[in-house]
Amino acid sequence: MLVLGIETSCDETGVALYHSERGLVGHALYSQIEVHAPYGGVVPELASRDHVRKLLPLLKDVLEQAGATRGDIDGVAFTAGPGLIGALLVGASMGRSLAWTWGVPAMAVHHMEGHLLAPMLETEPPAFPFVALLVSGGHTLLVRVEGVGAYRLLGESVDDAAGEAFDKTAKLLGLPYPGGPELAKLAQQGDPTRFRFPRPMTDRPGLDFSFSGLKTFALTTLRDSPQDDQTRADIARAFEDAVVDTLAIKCRRALEHTGLTRLVVAGGVGANRALRERLQSLLEQRGGRVYYPRPAFCTDNGAMIAYAGFRRLQAGQHEDLHIEARARWLLTDLPALAT
Ligand code: KG4
Ligand code: ZN
Repeated sequence: MLVLGIETSCDETGVALYHSERGLVGHALYSQIEVHAPYGGVVPELASRDHVRKLLPLLKDVLEQAGATRGDIDGVAFTAGPGLIGALLVGASMGRSLAWTWGVPAMAVHHMEGHLLAPMLETEPPAFPFVALLVSGGHTLLVRVEGVGAYRLLGESVDDAAGEAFDKTAKLLGLPYPGGPELAKLAQQGDPTRFRFPRPMTDRPGLDFSFSGLKTFALTTLRDSPQDDQTRADIARAFEDAVVDTLAIKCRRALEHTGLTRLVVAGGVGANRALRERLQSLLEQRGGRVYYPRPAFCTDNGAMIAYAGFRRLQAGQHEDLHIEARARWLLTDLPALAT
């Protein structure tokens, strides 16, 4: 079974082909960084228009990579939410229409399920059950995962997502969009002992997060310090340490609470090196194991959507003929696959 995956929920156009026996056979990604950089953040209307421009050329690319033709495609998966509604509608309309034209089933994929299943594309995929930490620009979720679609929410952010906090703090440090990776780079030059930021919501029980206060803490620290490059690097370091520490504390709690030994980390912030190293050593200490997608599949991509769509299509699910995209969509509303 060959499944086409289409991702257009935000500022990357991702297209991929996943084959049931051969795995990922084609993968193309186009980042809209240059489109949005002059504005310091994603401009939704420009994102939608750019997805329209890029989707079909990328489809041609992945077919060539796979040595396949459109007649070989057995199903089409597209991100239907959550995300920017106009951007989602581009992928959903295109994906649903292509499936109809080709006479194959279509599958509307939840973007966060795509992230969650992305480590399954690696050579040593995690077995169920596991705890998943999903850290993206829009979501911070701790989930108990029993199987595809069998998700129990353990904790989530009550305000900003981890990636959003990275992006906003990067902006106030004067770093260009996209802020998260830029802040992480700057933090490498920072002195970890100069400032200490709080670890929000770790002094009380529970698995929820709050990251918006860290951005304010960064703002007041910056205002009260000399305005030089070293100070900015030291603030970046203190901020990153606080986020990494907070995420690690909550992951440890979630593992203790569930008694599980496998942790999956996915979503854009999962590409952060300090976080990866920290969780790696946490799981080593606990005698468990942490699973990540390769960094390029932590951030948005079509491969994870092709894979998630493949799992659901293979189980016999598919969409009817209407086109729907959802800006908001709870991960826990997805139907579980029969095991
Ligand atoms: O999953 P993703 O590509 O898109 C969403 O679904 O939101 O995540 C993007 C987020 C952005 O907030 C970005 O700044 C953050 O992930 N990010 C990082 C790093 N790479 C991407 N944050 C910290 N360190 C990184 N290396
Ligand atoms: Zn994402």
